Order: sequence, then C-alpha cells, then structure tokens
Amino acid sequence: MDLGGKVAVVTGASSGIGAASAKALADAGMTVVAVARRTQRLQALAEADPRVIAHTADVTSDEAVDGLAERVGSELGACHVLVNNAGINAGTTFRDRQDVDGMRRVMEVTYFGAVRCTAALGGLLAASAPSRVINVGSVAGKVASGAPGYSAAKFALTGWSENLRAPWLARGVAVGQLNPGYIRTEGFPQQRPRATPLRRWVGEPEQVASAVVDMARSGAAERTVPRWYRAVVVLRHVAPGLFRAGAARL
Ligand SMILES: NC(=O)c1ccc[n+]([C@@H]2O[C@H](COP(=O)([O-])OP(=O)(O)OC[C@H]3O[C@@H](n4cnc5c(N)ncnc54)[C@H](OP(=O)(O)O)[C@@H]3O)[C@@H](O)[C@H]2O)c1
Repeated sequence: MDLGGKVAVVTGASSGIGAASAKALADAGMTVVAVARRTQRLQALAEADPRVIAHTADVTSDEAVDGLAERVGSELGACHVLVNNAGINAGTTFRDRQDVDGMRRVMEVTYFGAVRCTAALGGLLAASAPSRVINVGSVAGKVASGAPGYSAAKFALTGWSENLRAPWLARGVAVGQLNPGYIRTEGFPQQRPRATPLRRWVGEPEQVASAVVDMARSGAAERTVPRWYRAVVVLRHVAPGLFRAGAARL
C-alpha cells in the first residue's frame, strides 16, 4: 500500500515506540493521529510535524475511545492504519492478592485498549480498505518471559490478533502483530538486560518504527524486532527443555 496521503492512528504516541512510529508514518506521508494521555507530549510532536494531529485519550475509557473514532471519522473521513501500541508493565512478580489489581490494570491498557480501539475504528477501517491493524505485542507474548501479568496480557493479544486475521482480511483489513524484543524506552528502560551481556540484544524504538512502516505498506501478519529474537520463539517450541534451562540461568 502506498502510504502517501493516507490516515493513521497511533496509540501510546507520547513516548518510546509510539512516538517513533508516529514520526516514521508521518515521514512516509501519512496524516497521523497521535493518541495518549499526556497532551503536552503529543502537542510537541504535532508542532514538530504538521502531518501529526494530537488527540488526548485514555484507551481504558470506552467514552474516550469512541470520541477518538468519532473525531477521526468526521475530521479525516478515513482510517487506513491503526497501530495499537499503548501498553504498560506493572509489577515484576506475582505473589499475592495485591498483584491481581496490577494485572487487571495491565490487561485493561495493554490488551483491552487494543480491543477497544479496534472495535471503535473497525467500521472506518473496513470502509477505508485496504487497511491495516498493527498490534504491538511482544516476544513476551510468544514465550513466557518478563513479568507474569504483562506476559499474560501479551499472550492474550497474540491469540486475539491471530484469530482476527482471516475474518478481517475478508473485510479488507489486514491484522498483524509486531513483536519487539528488549527495546530501551521510558516505560521499559531495560536496566537489567543493559547491565548484563544481554545488552547487545537491546534495540531502539526507531527499529520498531521502521517495522511499523513496513507492515503498514505490506499488511504482513507478523514481524519480530530485532528479527533474530524469532530464534528464541522457535527454540521455545522445538526444544522447550533447553529453553527453560537457559531462561532459568538468565
Ligand atoms: N520497550 C520494550 O522493550 C518493549 C518490548 C516489547 C513490547 N513493547 C510494547 O511496546 C509498546 C510501547 O511501549 P514503549 O516501550 O514505547 O513504552 P513507553 O515509552 O512507556 O510508551 C507507552 C505509551 O503508552 C501510553 N499509554 C499508557 N497507558 C495509556 C492509556 N491508558 N491510554 C493511552 N495511552 C497510554 C503512554 O502514554 P501516556 O502515559 O501519555 O498515556 C506511552 O505513550 C507497549 O505496548 C509495550 O508493551 C515494548
């Protein structure tokens, strides 16, 4: 798909992967609606590039997400690419009752946020076909790793996203999933891997943004960034014992 003159919505665009993706899609010629809660960050993006439109919304609110869809429909009349990127991590362990609340919060933002935005913009995406939904998952949504609640939310995203692919292709909407490995951002500073030999595995948000642009063009079903993290996913499935032994050592 030629992206020039088309419309994208990027959630979680106030920092990290979302901000880099909004910039990269605008550089590719798209009008980009940048969505997050921190208005000033979004305004700074919009001031730097006239193709970026700031829209403040919390993806955990049905009302706010419906308002976003209403604005995109009435002001821009189309949505060709939706990047469901907003996501949080909360708590690194799962031990007791209080971890349930953290897990619920992660699910609300990271999983249901994507579900909510896709549902609200689904009609417009179909009317604008060919179009794309790019769900920013994680390697932690393909192999159990990182925080338990976070990994569970990303596994949920993987199942939902893969399930949607065939029926939504029939509507002209290619649903794909982009799985980053360790990427250094504000919300995910990756201090632990950066303090170990894993530091060379830590990537930058711009690498993921470049894959977002590729997926927007191609409608690909899945990408892993950096690409060689895929070897970890393959190892988990062909040699699970070896994978668990390695994971336990790390
Ligand atoms: N960095 C990594 O290593 C890594 C690896 C795999 C996957 N990912 C995924 O990549 C995505 C982006 O993460 P990042 O690393 O770029 O982290 P980040 O810099 O912390 O960005 C997270 C973004 O999500 C937004 N957000 C959080 N809660 C929100 C809400 N309720 N409503 C709307 N927006 C919300 C934040 O904006 P506001 O606070 O302004 O709302 C921010 O723009 C996430 O889905 C994350 O799980 C990251």
